Amino acid sequence: MKKNILCIGAGYVGGPTMAVMADRCPECRIRVADLNAARIRAWQSGEPPIYEPGLKEIVARTLNRNLFFTADADAAIEEAEIIFVSVNTPTKTFGEGAGRAADLQYWEKTARQIKAHARTPKIVVEKSTVPVRTAEAMEYILNAGGGVRFEVLSNPEFLAEGTAIEDLLHPDRVLIGGRDTPEGRAAVAELVELYAHWVPRERILTAGVWSSELSKLAANAFLAQRISSINALSAICETTGADVAEVARAVGMDSRIGPRFLKAGVGFGGSCFKKDLLNLVYLCESNGLPEAAHYWRQVVEMNEYQRRRFVRGMLAHMFNTVVDKRIAVFGFAFKADTGDTRESPAIHICRQLAEERAKLVVHDPKALENARIDLADLGDAVRYEPDPYRAAEGAHAIALLTDWALYRELDYRRIYEAMVKPACIFDGRNALDHGALFEIGFNVYAIGKPPRAH
Ligand code: UDX
Ligand code: ADP
Repeated sequence: MKKNILCIGAGYVGGPTMAVMADRCPECRIRVADLNAARIRAWQSGEPPIYEPGLKEIVARTLNRNLFFTADADAAIEEAEIIFVSVNTPTKTFGEGAGRAADLQYWEKTARQIKAHARTPKIVVEKSTVPVRTAEAMEYILNAGGGVRFEVLSNPEFLAEGTAIEDLLHPDRVLIGGRDTPEGRAAVAELVELYAHWVPRERILTAGVWSSELSKLAANAFLAQRISSINALSAICETTGADVAEVARAVGMDSRIGPRFLKAGVGFGGSCFKKDLLNLVYLCESNGLPEAAHYWRQVVEMNEYQRRRFVRGMLAHMFNTVVDKRIAVFGFAFKADTGDTRESPAIHICRQLAEERAKLVVHDPKALENARIDLADLGDAVRYEPDPYRAAEGAHAIALLTDWALYRELDYRRIYEAMVKPACIFDGRNALDHGALFEIGFNVYAIGKPPRAH
């Protein structure tokens, strides 16, 4: 084996990234460590603990060939020349910067762990999204007190869930940030070599460490901003009679703007957008830039407004009360093709509906287990139903919150027959055929479109 690589953190980022790297770099021996022993057992069994199209096949090809999973990071540290760190960096829930700053406790513990067990120089690569200048702090911790030298690189991950494998195999770009010193440049060159196994050279960008760290926050802030912009427009569409899909199409065909990420809906979720926006807000605030902080904060606020607006719309079209009315929730994951529910708009929408004393029946093809955990405190107000037809039985309304393809293929005539009349559909993702639903008899309410009621 030519190179020994360790990745600390076997989550959404670390697991798929290392599986693809092992597949494309057969001469590297890659170990992935996690504190969570159950997660490691799942990876070792060949049944990954996260659902990602194509992942299982890649793991099947590489597992125990040059990809290994372990619960003992300490023992694997010394053997590795390159250590990726992809531990969780959630938003702080306590103390200074609570609700905005990143909680770096896992990152710092990992750095100290690396320092404690390394006897020879290492390249440490930050993969988790972190605030700008984290690499500097990490380098300081790692190199404190002399001894073994560590070079810290920033190599942010741009993969999106549901398309992680495709994004990893054919990335728009790979970004590697390092110091402009002989050691820094050598470390960057080593990481470039690794990615060059499968990524064309012109797509591998190198930059300063701080630019690299900030670019990750900036990319997610821009993407989230596009969604909040189109959602802000959806509100004005509903009051003027314009159709947000037509507006998005016309706007997106301007090649300077582009067509992607202009889909209006119930708002963005996922582990990155809100967290990274808040990171950026905190960074602006703590650098004395309140106007810049306010600007990015507004993107988050628009997202929250969109969810509240959706629930208000449901109430308005259901005679201003949903008390004891059954509402079938179609989709709970933060987007299609993932079982992940972190920051899912569905969590907030279900909570608001439960507060209005609705009876919820949640369906999702991959996220029911997570939904059960996210809404545990709501008790009997929520039922979890693996069959969408049963979920809609006796319901007054369906709220579609995740754009799973299966929802387009259901037999809505059968669903309509089994619902209480008037039967309403609130399409929070503009995913369904509204004309056909209206013909069947449904009252159809979509985002940024004129209502269709009988
Ligand atoms: C995102 C970034 O895309 C990725 O580059 C980064 O590394 C991590 O964060 P992810 O959170 O997996 O990836 O999902 P993404 O596909 O970006 O969707 C995020 C949210 O935005 C979802 O809730 C999705 O439903 C919503 N969305 C997306 C819209 O509401 N409208 C759109 O047009 C696009
Ligand atoms: P991401 O979406 O960034 O990959 P996850 O929460 O899915 O985040 O994964 C992060 C993983 O890192 C978790 O499985 C967690 O158990 C693991 N982790 C956190 N700290 C350590 C540590 N010191 N050693 C090993 N694993 C860790």
